[in-house]
Amino acid sequence: MKNIFFQLRNSIIGFLYRNFFKKILFKIDEEKIHDNIIRLGKFLGSNILFRKTISLSLNFSDPMLEQNIGGIFFKNPVGLAAGFDKNAELTEIAPSLGFGFIEVGSITGQPCSGNPKPRLWRLIKSRSIVVYYGLKNDGSEIISKRLATKKFKIPVGISLAKTNSPETIEIEKGIKDYLKAAQSFLNIGDYLTINISCPNAFGGQPFTDSYSLNLLLQEIKGLNIKKPIFLKMPPDLPPEKVDKIIELADGYRLAGFICANLIKNRNNPKIIPEEISRVPEELGGISGRPAEETANNLIAYIYQKTKGEKIIIGCGGIFNALDAYKKIRLGASLLQLITGLIFEGPQIISQINLGLCRLLKKDGFKNISEAVGADNSL
Ligand SMILES: Cc1cc2nc3c(=O)[nH]c(=O)nc-3n(C[C@H](O)[C@H](O)[C@H](O)COP(=O)(O)O)c2cc1C
Repeated sequence: MKNIFFQLRNSIIGFLYRNFFKKILFKIDEEKIHDNIIRLGKFLGSNILFRKTISLSLNFSDPMLEQNIGGIFFKNPVGLAAGFDKNAELTEIAPSLGFGFIEVGSITGQPCSGNPKPRLWRLIKSRSIVVYYGLKNDGSEIISKRLATKKFKIPVGISLAKTNSPETIEIEKGIKDYLKAAQSFLNIGDYLTINISCPNAFGGQPFTDSYSLNLLLQEIKGLNIKKPIFLKMPPDLPPEKVDKIIELADGYRLAGFICANLIKNRNNPKIIPEEISRVPEELGGISGRPAEETANNLIAYIYQKTKGEKIIIGCGGIFNALDAYKKIRLGASLLQLITGLIFEGPQIISQINLGLCRLLKKDGFKNISEAVGADNSL
């Protein structure tokens, strides 16, 4: 009975979003809308009355979805992926939207204005976004001050990346930049992510190379960070390179992996060629439906290789509960999304959680943790 109410509530909000709000929002410039939604979210989060009202309209909870992972309590597995809340301005509103956790950033050692505009394109039929932001953010000093006095209601992950500038291309300078950012957040947030997979920055992805990653992780180890550390993986590395990264992550006792970041391959069969042809050839990483399969393959691969002993956060192309459940059954304990939220509306979090409860019950699981890796026997 309770769930029928939530289903009806979500269907009405989803209908209104898709047929009214989205039609208006999708007519406006992508980055302007992103900036305005952040402003609105920050404003709504600042007032308890707004937070409570939004929570009543969007929240859903069930003990089946609760997990203790890496020493952190998650009330549900659905998180906001890095890149939406670049400057950590939504930590107050995120719990009311129903998220189980939020990852802010990616945050860099220096403030960074990002790549030249335009740098965001919607591919509506492909259910995807092309992203060429280039790590636009206020930098670790300003953002850590913003968060220092806040009390979080849900776990907050801090995503760190190397400043997008010709000055951080040398490995040594790149490492210093990551370290500066990490030092600002030693006592802030519940987990750290080292993003080694931004597809849009100066110098490419040097820390996917095991020699450089080893140097970086050695220095990170020296900081004696007390919270779980994850690596945000690129979706398209050859297996030998993934194996080396797994080996290093294990050696340095990292908690796990986020699978995965944006894809680069424009020939992906899920991308409609006429849509991508509007985006200049060399620019951007691609999210959403086209990113789903590579992310799922990586989840399955890493789950097998690590024998289920590392935490996997599944990310890429989650638009509904079935997409989410697939990632869980392949080996992800937690999930993140951005594109699904933009295309489906804010009720998507509650819809996924409600749908997950239904799917878990149907398959005879009492808690979500029992379903992790169910399709990927070790
Ligand atoms: C607008 C936008 C900005 C992003 N910026 C970042 C970022 O700064 N750091 C990061 O690790 N990933 C970033 N990503 C990648 C997402 O975190 C995620 O890995 C990817 O979008 C796949 O998930 P989705 O299909 O649910 O969007 C960004 C994605 C989008 C759409």
